[in-house]
Amino acid sequence: MPYTFQTVPQISVQAGANAQLGQLLAQRFRPGRVMLVTDRFLVTSGLIAPGLKSLQEAGWEVMVYDEVQADPPDHVVRAAAEKARAFGAQVVLGFGGGSSMDVAKLVAVLADSSQALESMYGIDQVQGARLPLIQIPTTAGTGSEVTPISIVTTGETTKSGIVASQLYADMVILDATLTTGLPPAVTAATGIDAMVHAIEAYTSRHKKNPLSDHAATRALALLSSNLLTAVKHGDDLRARENMLLGSMLAGQAFANSPVAAVHALAYPLGGHFHIPHGLSNALVLGQVLRFNAEAAAPHYAELAEIVMPGASGSVEARAAAFIARIESLVAQTALPMRLRDHKVPESMLERLAADAMLQQRLLMNNPKDVTEADALAIYRAAY
Ligand SMILES: NC(=O)c1ccc[n+]([C@@H]2O[C@H](COP(=O)([O-])OP(=O)(O)OC[C@H]3O[C@@H](n4cnc5c(N)ncnc54)[C@H](O)[C@@H]3O)[C@@H](O)[C@H]2O)c1
Ligand SMILES: [Fe+2]
Repeated sequence: MPYTFQTVPQISVQAGANAQLGQLLAQRFRPGRVMLVTDRFLVTSGLIAPGLKSLQEAGWEVMVYDEVQADPPDHVVRAAAEKARAFGAQVVLGFGGGSSMDVAKLVAVLADSSQALESMYGIDQVQGARLPLIQIPTTAGTGSEVTPISIVTTGETTKSGIVASQLYADMVILDATLTTGLPPAVTAATGIDAMVHAIEAYTSRHKKNPLSDHAATRALALLSSNLLTAVKHGDDLRARENMLLGSMLAGQAFANSPVAAVHALAYPLGGHFHIPHGLSNALVLGQVLRFNAEAAAPHYAELAEIVMPGASGSVEARAAAFIARIESLVAQTALPMRLRDHKVPESMLERLAADAMLQQRLLMNNPKDVTEADALAIYRAAY
């Protein structure tokens, strides 16, 4: 089978890079007007300050847009793009978690285009070029820095994806010092999100290929062996850099071999209850792995080798051991693991199952078909 693997052209991995942002950008761009897309915490916490200072010293005129909200709603995307246009931004820099990076991608597209945001949802619907785009993740989770995907909350509760090659950044900077202050619960949830990207890319039904497999397995090895250290010893820079590298590799994997039912069932939880993206993945992960176990057994057995080297026994036994190992890792992060722990009313499970069915873009990649009744049974088991 022929296949294509695409990713961003430049990835710099450098602890402390934020304080040298001016010099790093000089490799590619002449100083001009740059818009930083971020959220308020990253400004008030002082995390962004060294980067800002370095850019200004290098001659950049900087505008900071810090109104990104988690699970960004479409009106935030439009407002940010409007600000970029008014400022005359020449370069867009996403600085933050997946929410900030996803908004930055769309700002880079919209600032230079008359196409309406509504007409961009789906796959390859974006027309024309975008402004130069740099991404700096401050969580080790979404891998958004290397994906051609933006997830936007549309209406009150629905999360919709825009997938287009224009959303690949020009330059990615991984600076692990930015992530050492991530609180344990955020470290755990975002790290589990990254593990799910690697697992779902590896078992994806249509576009899985040797290069996405390579990225996914390397990602899962790094993530599974560093997650608990990063959760328990946040200032361990080596573990933090491994998590950042793992989440980036997982992003490369699922950018080319898309995610599936875990994400499809997680999105309605984010949409209705604002449960953070990584946590909503964690809440349904174990049950979806069990649901997939038979269909995905050969792949799960291969992944068992990664998370528990030397695993032995039949394919089914290794697949079961893989699922148990992932569930145990998730349990050791100490996140409250049942839907009921997060104030999800039991009466909403049917609505969640109906909404999950809207995510056909993702469900079609699952190793096994998922009906609405299946989705409901998974939510009930996770309740
Ligand atoms: N584009 C993609 O490929 C892709 C993939 C997966 C998820 N997503 C989307 O990404 C979003 C989730 O992103 P996320 O999980 O990175 O979280 P996020 O960007 O929503 O941020 C969550 C919280 O963490 C805080 N935070 C970020 N960095 C921090 C740091 N270094 N220290 C302390 N706090 C910090 C933020 O201020 C925010 O309050 C969702 O909207 C999800 O749908 C996108
Ligand atoms: Fe995700």
